[in-house]
Amino acid sequence: MAKATIILDGQTIEIETGGKAILETLLDSGHEPPFSCTSGVCTTCMAKLLEGQVEMDVNYGLDEDQVEQGYILTCQSRPVSDAVKLTYDDVQ
Ligand code: FES
Repeated sequence: MAKATIILDGQTIEIETGGKAILETLLDSGHEPPFSCTSGVCTTCMAKLLEGQVEMDVNYGLDEDQVEQGYILTCQSRPVSDAVKLTYDDVQ
């Protein structure tokens, strides 16, 4: 169980992830994050990690430079630290 702070459309959302991918957690709680393929290819769900760590199950869409800069595919990302902070704003 990780605490996630997520900036989406100018709003700050505080949510517990419970082992699910960040995108799924947001959708399950009624939010409307951007997504399309949900399989790590299209990058529509891209966000930037500001604090903490995640693991991506697969990543077919981001190149190494983007990953080094903190970009993540939220459909594939599960927090592996107790808390994470990320933003969808200004990265699409
Ligand atoms: S929704 Fe396509 S890569 Fe995440």
